[in-house]
Amino acid sequence: MALDLTTEQKDIGKANFQRVVGQYLEPKSGVNRRDFMKGLFAAGSVVPISAAAYFGYQSQHFERPVKAALIGAGDEGGVLMGEHNPKYLQIVAVCDIRPYNQKRIFTGEPTGPRKGLNKVYGKEEAKQIKVYEDYRKMLEENKEIEAVVIALPLHLHAPVAIECLKAGKHVLCEKLMAWNVTQCKDMIRAAEENDRVLSIGHQRHYSMLYAHGLEVVNSGVLGDVKHIRALWHRNGTWPRTNEKGDVLKQPNGEIQLRDSWFPEIRQEDRAALEKDIKQHGYKSMEELVRWRIFNRTGGGLMAELGSHQLDACSIFLGKVHPLAVSGVGTRSFYRNQYERGEREVEDHVFVTFEFPGKNYYADAERKAIKDKDDVVVVTYSSLNTNGFEPYGECLMGSRGSLVVTEERDIMLYPERGGASRTTAVTVSAGPGGAPVLDTSGSTGGPATAAVATGQAAMGTGIPSRGYREEMEHFAYCIRMWEQGMSKQDRPLPRCHGRVAMADAIIALTSNLAMERRQRIEFKKEWFEAESKEVPDPEKVPEKI
Ligand SMILES: NC(=O)c1ccc[n+]([C@@H]2O[C@H](COP(=O)([O-])OP(=O)(O)OC[C@H]3O[C@@H](n4cnc5c(N)ncnc54)[C@H](O)[C@@H]3O)[C@@H](O)[C@H]2O)c1
Repeated sequence: MALDLTTEQKDIGKANFQRVVGQYLEPKSGVNRRDFMKGLFAAGSVVPISAAAYFGYQSQHFERPVKAALIGAGDEGGVLMGEHNPKYLQIVAVCDIRPYNQKRIFTGEPTGPRKGLNKVYGKEEAKQIKVYEDYRKMLEENKEIEAVVIALPLHLHAPVAIECLKAGKHVLCEKLMAWNVTQCKDMIRAAEENDRVLSIGHQRHYSMLYAHGLEVVNSGVLGDVKHIRALWHRNGTWPRTNEKGDVLKQPNGEIQLRDSWFPEIRQEDRAALEKDIKQHGYKSMEELVRWRIFNRTGGGLMAELGSHQLDACSIFLGKVHPLAVSGVGTRSFYRNQYERGEREVEDHVFVTFEFPGKNYYADAERKAIKDKDDVVVVTYSSLNTNGFEPYGECLMGSRGSLVVTEERDIMLYPERGGASRTTAVTVSAGPGGAPVLDTSGSTGGPATAAVATGQAAMGTGIPSRGYREEMEHFAYCIRMWEQGMSKQDRPLPRCHGRVAMADAIIALTSNLAMERRQRIEFKKEWFEAESKEVPDPEKVPEKI
């Protein structure tokens, strides 16, 4: 296993990564990156290389922030509102059908990223933000809204985004892009026909950790990467208890588990919505609140978790499209027969992807095949019954391994047999000047020294996961588009529709492979927005 590192091993790996960045990337660009992580972590300090500078956007293009509305003020809407920068996006209205969430979006939570709009704007100013239950009414009554941020359940992404694009709004929609691939293509077409910015919320495209990780991978120090292991495991099997320690039960007598896909249904929401729930577009309160566990409203573990990590893996592999996928998904824990509640989506997935290696294609257009055996295998698993390892990705190369955990830590290790995890590295020039990992001074003492260097260099705290930067860049693109540039010169969000559609195709085709217990080869046309070919033509949204 590669993600289960001890604290000391982690510190050595972090220090290794930091040194490679300082020794190799910094001289190449002339930008001070040696302390980039320290700068990221230390809130309020001078950041040696800011995300805005790194990703190439600036707020100085802004005479005024983009007036925006949030549609879907639940858990993720709360994160986005807590993280947005009011210099870029000014929230003027929020919309949600659940009364509890309409309030929580303002009050936020005492800890964590959901700070609440009251804290971001100040309580008095936040009173100016209008609250709606119906997004159509919100758009109708507030013509000044330029953009919308959509954080709704998956089945609503495409219909609501398309409606907003047609109404002339720029759209930042949460991932997964859509419930099926036809909807992704419809979203891209709607954005293009209405000349609006469409951005999808795969935040890793704006994470400085991943960006620097990619630069290190591209430097070649890992050698040939033939395998990436990615996982998101967790354990929601413990029963919820109240303050007295009593196990909590649902009204039907089943035990409530601590699974985040099974959130509490608030009495306040039930009282307001349950009677007319169908008019709100849901079969039941349970489908509204626990939309992730139903096929009609969600897309299972691959859409919710796997899509993030396959996005990361394909970033590291140069955003190439995979060749094939096979897998097994089971619904083996959450079953009524064990009194754990029933669900339609899997609770465990194990998927294997074949990606093209560097020599797979003969040409840059990826038409002819040069070496069909040059394949990179990516394995992904998501468990709901064991949280032993943290979530992350591990790239295994012939000269080194790169490990990213929890969007927070990034570590580098040389290939050194059993000593890999405790070996410190520097970078030196290899044949032809290419950088190589140098372990010559790394036995005994230097490894311990590396720990100290690592701790000093990394600082403390949690780096930005990219949400803030993703929203800043979205606003920047909108303002730049207004400057009369030709279409080909306009900046696009780093995760624009065509990029995000590939992530959706990967996740949704994995679901098909598991459903059919088949190896499925990806077709080129699926990834072309102009083509009607999709992997899942028989999957059509169910109307109620
Ligand atoms: N980028 C990430 O890391 C990340 C993390 C978590 C969730 N997400 C995505 O964010 C989206 C929302 O997830 P969540 O965890 O916030 O779910 P959630 O259930 O907490 O929030 C969804 C909100 O939408 C509201 N809603 C439902 N139908 C509505 C309608 N017709 N009109 C107005 N409001 C409506 C619900 O009342 C709820 O408040 C999903 O697409 C999810 O995949 C992304």
